[in-house]
Amino acid sequence: MNNTAMDVQPVAEPGTGYVQKGDAVARVDGRAKVTGQARYAAEHLSDDMAYGVVVNSTIARGCIVAMHLDDALAVPGVVDILTHGNRPRTRKLDLFYKDMTAPAGSPFKPFHGSRIFYSGQPVALVLADTFEAARYAASLVTVEYEEEAHDTHLLSNLERAYTPSRLKAGFTPPPAETGDAQAAFDAATIKVDSTYYAGVEHHNPMEMHATTVLRADDGHLTIYDKSQSSQNSRWMVSHVFGLAKSKVTVRNPFVGGAFGSGLRPQYNLILAVMGALQLKRSVRVVLTRQQMFTFGHRPETWQRVRLAASADGTLQSVMHEAIAETSRLEDYVEVVVNWSGQLYKCENVKLAYQVVKLDHYSPIDMRAPGAAHGVHALEIAMDELAYALDMDPLALRLKNYSERDEAQDLPYSTKELRACYEQGAARFGWSQRPMAPRSMREGNELIGWGMATGQWDAMQMFARASAVLHANGRLVVSSAASDIGTGTYTVMAQIAAHAMGLPMEQVVFRLGDSTLPVAPIEGGSSHVATVGSAVEGVCEKLQRTLFGMALSLPGKPLDRARFADIRFRDGSICYDGADGAVAVPLADVLGAAGRDRLEEKYLMLPNILKQKKYVRATHSAVFCEVRVDEDFGTVRVTRVVSAIAAGRIMNAQLARSQILGGVVWGIGQALHEETHTDHRLGRFMNHSLAEYHVAANADIHDIDVIFVDEDDRVVSRLGAKGVGEIGLVGVAAAVSNAIYHATGRRVRSTPMTPDKVMAPSDAWAAGDSGMFMKS
Ligand code: MOS
Repeated sequence: MNNTAMDVQPVAEPGTGYVQKGDAVARVDGRAKVTGQARYAAEHLSDDMAYGVVVNSTIARGCIVAMHLDDALAVPGVVDILTHGNRPRTRKLDLFYKDMTAPAGSPFKPFHGSRIFYSGQPVALVLADTFEAARYAASLVTVEYEEEAHDTHLLSNLERAYTPSRLKAGFTPPPAETGDAQAAFDAATIKVDSTYYAGVEHHNPMEMHATTVLRADDGHLTIYDKSQSSQNSRWMVSHVFGLAKSKVTVRNPFVGGAFGSGLRPQYNLILAVMGALQLKRSVRVVLTRQQMFTFGHRPETWQRVRLAASADGTLQSVMHEAIAETSRLEDYVEVVVNWSGQLYKCENVKLAYQVVKLDHYSPIDMRAPGAAHGVHALEIAMDELAYALDMDPLALRLKNYSERDEAQDLPYSTKELRACYEQGAARFGWSQRPMAPRSMREGNELIGWGMATGQWDAMQMFARASAVLHANGRLVVSSAASDIGTGTYTVMAQIAAHAMGLPMEQVVFRLGDSTLPVAPIEGGSSHVATVGSAVEGVCEKLQRTLFGMALSLPGKPLDRARFADIRFRDGSICYDGADGAVAVPLADVLGAAGRDRLEEKYLMLPNILKQKKYVRATHSAVFCEVRVDEDFGTVRVTRVVSAIAAGRIMNAQLARSQILGGVVWGIGQALHEETHTDHRLGRFMNHSLAEYHVAANADIHDIDVIFVDEDDRVVSRLGAKGVGEIGLVGVAAAVSNAIYHATGRRVRSTPMTPDKVMAPSDAWAAGDSGMFMKS
């Protein structure tokens, strides 16, 4: 079977009709996904397909000295085995392996040499006519190593921490100290000094990372790659293999979740292309769930927060330091502590961020990278301070509410956090909360209420879009955006349909193809503000052109109109003139001009000069209720209210879904998720969904999402900021604070498993969960 079928193009169901920005329009890709018509990276086929299965290193550091491939090569159906010794020619220099989001350092180069940098590093690709033959043969590959001592233990290497000197593009190092934080801390009477720990987490999207390379007879490669940017993957393939842009097309029309794991092209892409070039055939490489733990993860992070306040709750000092792991290869960096200088008003703030090189693969961004840890620690510390003051935790936050960023001395573009606090607290019933821990119980369950604040960036990149209006009223808008399950197809079509006054089902938004107009990687919750603004921009160009054409229509129906006076509605240009209402159908405008299509292109550039005068951020207030079994230490999060300020909401249903997903993940971060390392082997151990626990349906109870009114024209012309990540930030801290309220036990490490809920609070300091001690 050949991959002749076009990718299914999601479009709204017939009868959806006219929509407004903000309407709860159902996702247009829903039917294609539930019927299986939407094909993911591993689901494309070709007659000449070879199947690649990856063999991974079993040591964490050292060198390959010999590889024994004969048994594997003898398996019927096996056509080749690629290793560092026989791979096709690739570029040598680091710069060719730097994808668009690469941190500083020397990126991992698959099959580049015999050196082993981490356990699970790919060392061989077995290629066979069937997947089964490749998988069996891969089990027969043996590798001899010269092993070197490795170190994967963050907590016993904190003294090796250093300040990353070569910061990755876009990374903002902590600002310089304001005031004298140590002196203010020393002088204060009410203070908190706590350390926090979070283990490694993995993204675990439902869809495994996979690449299918379809090779045409002329050598052109059409590559389906699980990626958050087809253009980033295309760029990487072109650079690594020295292939012209015209020789490679990358597509990612459907992505089964990524959460950051697809921000950088993973090794399956490079290996699949190697296979296709070597065999001159189409090749598919799919990683197993276990192999999903062999690249990129949320870094293990240690933090210390010191807060001091005067007796009335006024913050006197904020000190926040974080030490996180990175790899031997790169300085992966996150913004962990900076939020602590923004969220509250304080004159003495000192922030520090350092990393330690370990023998793991480089960490990679995972939903709300940095904030998921940094705001977590700060928000537990604030709760601790509230109890030291005997002050309501919400009152403490309101007391220190920051109207502007003190460290950078900048105002917020918009900040409706106060409304989040008020509406969230009212919906939750926070005013009924007794202050003392252990004051609510039902049977053997202790009940606790906790809250926390969240903040995330509101970013805008640049993007291009094109739009073609056909005489039959069909509008096709294109940009090389991605839809990693977030609703990009739907929201972009909705923005365009609203702008042009066309029924939703007549608007097609094309994405997920590297040949489309340039769009950024789908990351940082920036796609709506970025691509959405490009879509609205290109539609405005279409509007202006159509208006210009309509002015010369016979009878001059719009003779007295200015562009500002007209509206695009019901498939027409509408004008309420002095002589009555006029509606000129778009089809008539094109028809009179003898055009069957009209095309416009648009480049959306952020107004950087304006934007840099503001701090641009989303905010949240999270309130939660937990019930803790007093005998077993098990925690249920029975109620969450998440009040979000994220600018104008473009689609009420999909935005709510994003926040629900973030809250679910926050509950997972709080109670379930951690990847354990066996430090003797330097290897992640619980690399399956049986042992890496994520929140399941039974873990999730009531979640209530509130979007407060906010409209931010600094961040984007749409007024929108973006909702992908803010839903996660603060959730685990709210859970932790609720556990304290229920039990009187302060749990400062995640996940808050029953052993920690029942044990003394710093038990984690013995090792990550004390389970796998350093040998
Ligand atoms: Mo997000 S961690 O920028 O995919």
